[in-house]
Amino acid sequence: MVDRPPPAPAATGRPDPDADPVWWKHGVIYQIYPRSFMDSNADGIGDLEGIRRRLDYLLWLRVEAIWISPIYPSPMADFGYDVADYCGIAPIFGTLAEFDRLVAEAHARGLKVILDFVPNHSSTAHPWFQESRVSRNSPKRDWYIWRDPAPDGGPPNNWLANFGGSAWEYDAATGQYYYHAFLPEQPDLNWRNPEVRRAMHAAMRFWLDRGVDGFRVDVIWHLIKDEQFRDNPPNPAWQPHQASIDRLLQIHSADQPEVHDVVAEMRSLIDEYPDRVLIGEIYLPMERLVAYYGPDLRGAHLPFNFQLIFAAWSAPQIARLVQEYEAALPEGGWPNWVMGNHDQKRIASRVGPAQARVAAMLLLTLRGTPTLYYGDEIGMENVAIPPDCVQDPWEKNEPGLGLGRDPARTPMQWDASPGAGFTTGTPWLPLSPDHRERNVEALARDPRSILTLYRRLIALRREQPALHAGSYLPVAAEGNVLAFLRCAGAARLLIALNFGQAPQCLDLRPHGIASARILLSTALDREGEAPGPMLHLRPAEGVAVALE
Ligand code: NOJ
Ligand code: CA
Repeated sequence: MVDRPPPAPAATGRPDPDADPVWWKHGVIYQIYPRSFMDSNADGIGDLEGIRRRLDYLLWLRVEAIWISPIYPSPMADFGYDVADYCGIAPIFGTLAEFDRLVAEAHARGLKVILDFVPNHSSTAHPWFQESRVSRNSPKRDWYIWRDPAPDGGPPNNWLANFGGSAWEYDAATGQYYYHAFLPEQPDLNWRNPEVRRAMHAAMRFWLDRGVDGFRVDVIWHLIKDEQFRDNPPNPAWQPHQASIDRLLQIHSADQPEVHDVVAEMRSLIDEYPDRVLIGEIYLPMERLVAYYGPDLRGAHLPFNFQLIFAAWSAPQIARLVQEYEAALPEGGWPNWVMGNHDQKRIASRVGPAQARVAAMLLLTLRGTPTLYYGDEIGMENVAIPPDCVQDPWEKNEPGLGLGRDPARTPMQWDASPGAGFTTGTPWLPLSPDHRERNVEALARDPRSILTLYRRLIALRREQPALHAGSYLPVAAEGNVLAFLRCAGAARLLIALNFGQAPQCLDLRPHGIASARILLSTALDREGEAPGPMLHLRPAEGVAVALE
């Protein structure tokens, strides 16, 4: 049989690396969950000063930007996603002066700072809501979503809250219900009201004027709800072990056409400032997700792409979803990939420690901006939380279904000391028992550790225009192997990832092997090797090969 290359699919993406040197396209975004990153004052809760003290670690890792989950004043019903003041800092995290210092010191190191912005809902403790709930005639009544009871006195419609129960809370003082997509302590703001938009824009400017480099906007697809408040239809696929929110298909309570005007307004505001980024948190199917780039790309720069979090861990499946995503992107829309965050299970637990290395190489070699969740670079796993230590309100509301998010929010493991270098007090969530071995200090010294792998991958991505700016071309592979080319100018890199437990082989002859050389293996032991015509992959091994 004649060896011949499979029919060539078209490469996707702009091949010219120098055409578009934009930081949020080329660099790695590192998510910090501030409660759990570094505690500077022994109260067991991470804080801004703690982040500042760890900036040199982030510089060493060579990430481009940090995104910090909310740090605003808050009763912490949802750990900061219930904001009581959009223009302040929660005392538990520090002060505005400490924030300014953090931004200044990050910038001095060339690190960008992205804030989490939570415009869909405030806390019930926010003065706006306090004023809104006083009377039906309050000037701020329409800033939130108030409705009369249904004829039977029950909630106005069947919408459900994300953390369990009805999304409507009855307020006896005025005899109406208010809507909350999340906790009752998180009333939704009414983004159809222009005053709300103005107030929120002012809050965004407050931070942009202080020098922040952009926002990750919380649940951006929720901002506008159906004007008629129609019932959501039942979800025929729902199973009793699933979250109660999934009983219904959320077609009327979120992702309404008018939301794109709201996003475009935010984008226009962002564009008044040079070099800033607008990221949207969006959990939607692919074709709806990409709509958030906006008409003429006037929406979010990066609608977060969470597909790797939910994909079955098999090479054909991931190959398919990458292809579908690449095909769905609007012309000029820049891709991005997220492997984990504070709402999801840890990648190392989802796929196991061996495949976590493959996941690292995948995240850092795909076309588009990678977002890395703190601790994934040291292979942190979900941590079992004893019932009396549970913090997450979702777990408290719907216990035992595995919905709780605490296991992926445990303190960062810096060293082998009793508080893992995170705190000298009692940590707010239990430390992982593996922190004595799995910590930054130990793994940074180990030339074969997952941390060394992440650092090398990030460095490789920075060095190689083919990786941070090049085109993407799928390569046909046998077995459970995902292979693709990244190309820029004359440079061609082949990435081959073995998602399975069996050794695999990839025929390099169709791709030109004259000077093929391994740049990096996930096992960190094949650098410089000339692979020959057949590239051998050990179980759970990924390699990056320079072809020319
Ligand atoms: C998404 C955030 O990531 C999550 O942590 C939070 O609970 C909800 N939005 C509500 O703000
Ligand atoms: Ca603290």
